[in-house]
Amino acid sequence: KKVVLAYSGGLDTSIILKWLEDTYNCEVVTFTADLGQGEELEPARAKAEQMGVKEIYIEDLREEFVRDYVFPMFRANTVYEGEYLLGTSIARPLIAKRLVEIANATGADAISHGATGKGNDQVRFELGAYALKPGVKVIAPWREWDLLSREKLMAYAKEHNIPVDFAKQGTKSPYSMDANLLHISYEGGILEDPWAEPEEEMWRWSVSPEAAPDEPTYIELTYEKGDIVAIDGERLKPHEVLEKLNKLGGANGIGRLDIVENRYVGMKSRGAYETPGGTIMLKAHRAIESITLDREVAHLKDELMPRYAEVIYNGYWWSPERRMLQEMIDQSQEVVNGKVKVKLYKGNVIPVGRVSDDTLFDESIATFEDDAGAYDQKDAEGFIKLNALRLRIAASKGRKLD
Ligand code: ARG
Ligand code: SIN
Repeated sequence: KKVVLAYSGGLDTSIILKWLEDTYNCEVVTFTADLGQGEELEPARAKAEQMGVKEIYIEDLREEFVRDYVFPMFRANTVYEGEYLLGTSIARPLIAKRLVEIANATGADAISHGATGKGNDQVRFELGAYALKPGVKVIAPWREWDLLSREKLMAYAKEHNIPVDFAKQGTKSPYSMDANLLHISYEGGILEDPWAEPEEEMWRWSVSPEAAPDEPTYIELTYEKGDIVAIDGERLKPHEVLEKLNKLGGANGIGRLDIVENRYVGMKSRGAYETPGGTIMLKAHRAIESITLDREVAHLKDELMPRYAEVIYNGYWWSPERRMLQEMIDQSQEVVNGKVKVKLYKGNVIPVGRVSDDTLFDESIATFEDDAGAYDQKDAEGFIKLNALRLRIAASKGRKLD
């Protein structure tokens, strides 16, 4: 029996590794991915080797992550519950896919992960795994074992000779964190009181808006089919775009968020997020769409957006409805080409210019000056009267309209 484990190299997943071997008498294959979380991967390899793992997969998935997951999602302008940019949610389908692919390559019949039994991540990993490998077995130690306190975990580690330095003593944060190129998230600790403001030291990627420079930063973003392909004229790969926007945004105090959200499993949860690059991308994408998309297409996208966000948040990336939505969205993006000029200033992302060869903006029609017959103002009279017809009928029959 073989199990592929999503392994970070930290204390918790190291304990899981050992626990899987002992409880299921199985061989464990570890999978560790670089999604831009900003941690070295080689220590994870060393630890897996030290624990006797024979098949160790270490992969740099940054490019694939941003190109095939983050960018497609941003074409849809997805935001969950009006605020959350889905930084963790969008990374899970890729991890689920690789877990399954590695299971297939190594002849494993099971996968395992370190998500708790209370959150969204377990749902996302497992829905993804079942969708891509219907017969897969899933082992979620946090739902099975009785190591439910920090003391029990430490005792287990000691008893099984798992070096406790795996906990990265000293740098261990009081929060449950998850990071990748799109965001860093913080949950737990003092955040469990929704009234308690996060302390300034918690934030890792951004300066506070108060501490941001007094001079604005201007950037020019070039779009092709809804994706940013260049910053200030320099062509970049998707993950390089996001890396650069994270730096620019973070330096200008952009992308901090503090919310209470509804988890799919039913509970409310308080989270803090830093999404500097994503916050810029969302605003700028809306600006380029504002001149290139037809009104009805734009409005339809906006109606579908919360639905698409929910699909991703709840873990249904690998699903027929996700495929359908993405095809519609991608089709709409054919014309989303051009440039946006954005001003970054003390936590704000302010689009100040947009231009496109595919623009639908017609200055000669929109002008407040003489439009030389491009638009006949007399047409507006009938347009308004016909639209008012049902209102006038209702009012004349005594319906209350005020
Ligand atoms: N609440 C966010 C979400 O569901 C973030 C989850 C963070 N996950 C973690 N393992 N710390 O997408
Ligand atoms: C977890 O439960 O492992 C983290 C939080 C979440 O998945 O929502």
